[in-house]
Formats: sequence, C-alpha cells, structure tokens
Amino acid sequence: MTPTPTDQPNVTALLREYALPSPLGFGQELAPIMYRADYMSGTWQAGQLIPFGEVNINPAATCVQFGQQCFEGMKAYKAAHKQPTLFRPEANFARFSRSATRLSMPPPTKEIFAEALSQLVTAFARFIPEDSGQSLYLRPTLLGLDNTFAVKSSERFCFLLLASPSDAYYGDPIKVMIERTHSRAAKGGTGSEKVGGNYAGSLLATGRCIKAGFDQPLWLDAATHSEIEELSGMNFMAVIDDELHTPALSGTILPGVTRDSIIRIAKSMSIRVVERTMPVAGLLTDIINGRCTELFACGTAAIICPISEIGDADGAKMALPDTGKVASKLRATLLNIQEGRADDPYGWSVAAEDTDRLCSRLG
Ligand SMILES: Cc1ncc(COP(=O)(O)O)c(C=O)c1O
Repeated sequence: MTPTPTDQPNVTALLREYALPSPLGFGQELAPIMYRADYMSGTWQAGQLIPFGEVNINPAATCVQFGQQCFEGMKAYKAAHKQPTLFRPEANFARFSRSATRLSMPPPTKEIFAEALSQLVTAFARFIPEDSGQSLYLRPTLLGLDNTFAVKSSERFCFLLLASPSDAYYGDPIKVMIERTHSRAAKGGTGSEKVGGNYAGSLLATGRCIKAGFDQPLWLDAATHSEIEELSGMNFMAVIDDELHTPALSGTILPGVTRDSIIRIAKSMSIRVVERTMPVAGLLTDIINGRCTELFACGTAAIICPISEIGDADGAKMALPDTGKVASKLRATLLNIQEGRADDPYGWSVAAEDTDRLCSRLG
C-alpha cells in the first residue's frame, strides 16, 4: 500500500490551532482530525488523515437503514511513556474484523488499520492527556454506504478512525439495576460483536435505570432472564470468597479486552478466577450472606469501576460492603502497565508511531 502523507496542510493547520479543553470528560471532546479509507469495486483504497467533520451519507444507506455498521473502543496512552503507546491493538483489530464479517462487511486490511492508528495518534501525540486515567480514546468505525431499501449488504464501505482525548468514563463507583424485561443479546445474534444495534436496543432500559437513580442496567440472558451477562458497555465481575467470578463467554456477551487482561493479572496475583454461568439469584444470596464482598465493571472506557449498589425492578436495593479492595489492586496494576509505570510482562503495549511493528502485531 502506498503510504499517505500525514502533513496535509489542512490537517496541520487544524492541529496548530487546537487546544485541549478542561475538564475533558469522556468522549465529549473530539479530535479535530480523523482517518478515512473507502472500500469500492471489491478493494480497499488508500486512506488518509482528514479534518474531522460530518460525513456525507445517503439517508437510504445500509448503515442508516439496517444498522450495517460496527465499531471498536481502544486507547492510546502517554502518561509515563516517552511515546504514545497502544494497548493490545491486535485484540481490537481481531474483534473489529469479527464484527465486520458478522455483518457481511469487509474488515479493513491490517495495513490500513495500523496506518490509521499510527498516523492519527502520532499527529495528535502532543495533545494526549497525561494524568493517570486519561488517554486518547480511539473509535474505529465501519459503515455500509450503498443506498437500498431492499435488505441486502452494501458493496461500498467507509472506514473511519475517530479520536477523543478523554478522562475515564466514570469517576465514582456506579449503581446498577437488574434488567428484568428487555434483553441485550440472544444466542446466534450479535451480542459477542461490537455492533451498533446491540447498543440501540439497550438505550431504553438505560434511560429507565437512570430515572430510577442507577447508572447502568445489568443484563440477564435472553432465554431465561436468570443469568447475569454484562452491563451495556462493560463486563461484570464479582469477588466471592476472595475469588474473582465473572460470566463465561457464552456467545452473547462481548469478549472484553479488559476482562481478559484482568483475568490474566488476577491469576498472576494468585487470585482464583472462575468463569461460569452466574445466576442472579445466587449472586444476591451471596451478597446477603456476606460471601460476595465486591462487584465491579470493567472495560476500555471505564477501566475498572466499583459497583456500590445493585437494585431490582421491584425497588429492592442492596449496597455492597466493600467498594474496592480487590478492584483497586487490579486497577492499579492494569493502569501501571497501560500507562508505562510498571514492567509490561505480557508485552501488551506497542509504540503507536512504529507502523510496521504495529502492523506485524495485527496478525
Ligand atoms: C457491551 C460491552 N461489554 C464489554 C465491554 C468491554 O470491552 P473492552 O474491555 O474490550 O473495552 C464493552 C466495551 O467495549 C462493551 O461495549
């Protein structure tokens, strides 16, 4: 693939004038540049950095009409690193490719994905916030562009990499409410892929939950509405008898990169990890009898976020006795690796500016 220049005059001018706002929040401030590559006539065309702005999309496009779109959430860190680094980008690329394929879309090549990350993060490097918990949140996005009212796949697609200098998603422990009516995902559906439809279907329950004084719904399995799956944008973990319990990857929950990283860190700390079906009734009993001492959510955006209260549709509420002994230990270890304050025994971090190395990491 022909390399594209990063120093287009309009991109350079935008960055010259840019200043980070304060406070940042999560996902509110968008970088003034983005990367775009297009797929047409059966092949990916060379991409480039362009000014951030609205994208011209036909209102009859498959991404609008049928939700033919997928995305990823990943981060570039500066903090204690000399150069910006990406955390396990190969895991996000693999999941993005699975999501695209599930929705009948061609994933971008690893060369395009690596170039997008490398060019955007390097061009924006001086604006990546450096306080612990802050990062450049990155949102690879793939859209079906053909306009058709017939239910069929597009043959033209657009890959975008968007970026947002951000704080962590939540600053304080969160409250979750068991969702007893709606389902997020069913077996054979798209729950283990990161596609917009999963999130659209969660919004009504999220609104209900916020109105009732909680932050997020806790989703149960669609077939029996009895087993815990995950939150709308995070995986779920519980500390029970000093062991780390989390719902097994059933095909209906998102296989989180953070979930996997925490499992590996916990095992290295000799914490026993149990991946299993998690009946919600059993969890509530374990909270009452004191065996479950901590609940927390985990994900790229939220990092690790303690859960201080769990509520039910009938108005019942239970406070967790401990909002963070194990969670804070895991969070500190994970963040120290991500932000470059500790050794990276797993080789998870990779310098963003080294496009070739990045590309070879992607597969
Ligand atoms: C539904 C859902 N579950 C879990 C996660 C956590 O995944 P990750 O750790 O890869 O960010 C996310 C965030 O991407 C999500 O949207």
